[in-house]
Amino acid sequence: MTDCIPVITLDGPAASGKGTIASRVADALGFHYLDSGALYRIATLDALSKGIDLDDAQALSPVFEGGRILLDGRDVTTAIRAEEVSSATSRVAVVPGVRAALFALQKNAARLPGLVADGRDMGTVVFPEAPLKVFMTATARVRAERRYCQLLERGETADLEALTADLEERDRRDSQRATAPLKPAEDARLLDTSCMGIEEVVKKVLEWWDETKKLS
Ligand code: C5P
Repeated sequence: MTDCIPVITLDGPAASGKGTIASRVADALGFHYLDSGALYRIATLDALSKGIDLDDAQALSPVFEGGRILLDGRDVTTAIRAEEVSSATSRVAVVPGVRAALFALQKNAARLPGLVADGRDMGTVVFPEAPLKVFMTATARVRAERRYCQLLERGETADLEALTADLEERDRRDSQRATAPLKPAEDARLLDTSCMGIEEVVKKVLEWWDETKKLS
């Protein structure tokens, strides 16, 4: 039932700035915002806390029975962003049963007046009918440097080489998995943000949205 609900999808590799851009665009338009990566991260945190083997697809899938996304009522906002969870999430996200369990939750996020959804397969699998699909990229080095600065700002320690290697490994797993791999939808607009600032990217997406509305 998302046909008449405007949806903008923003897909791209890890740390490409999708979350920041998607929430800014959603604010500017008064739309809802879906951070689909957070769902996969919550699922992973749950599996890690239960000691489930991340290579055991059968053991992972039942964790999501009932579509539960709250982690036993515990606030896991910070915990799901830990580097250990980031890396483990791309392993959990290859499991088709996990993706199937999270599909309806994501679909249900589409509500009036509209939705901006960010992730890896928003334009290809979850909202293929979205009138505007954006695929954001930036070199692994630029993305790692952005993540490095974020971690230092938070008072954490970070190693740029290790971050770059970790991002490349996550990209490889996300792009090469059999189910819903990271790739641009055929009708996605590509945006390389390597040399762009946040405001510039937000402006570009809003311009594309204005064009899209005029065409519809
Ligand atoms: O976007 P974020 O970095 O929070 O996503 C964490 C991980 O969740 C990704 O590396 C990917 O493995 C998985 N993910 C996914 N599909 C989505 C969103 C995230 O597979 N739509």
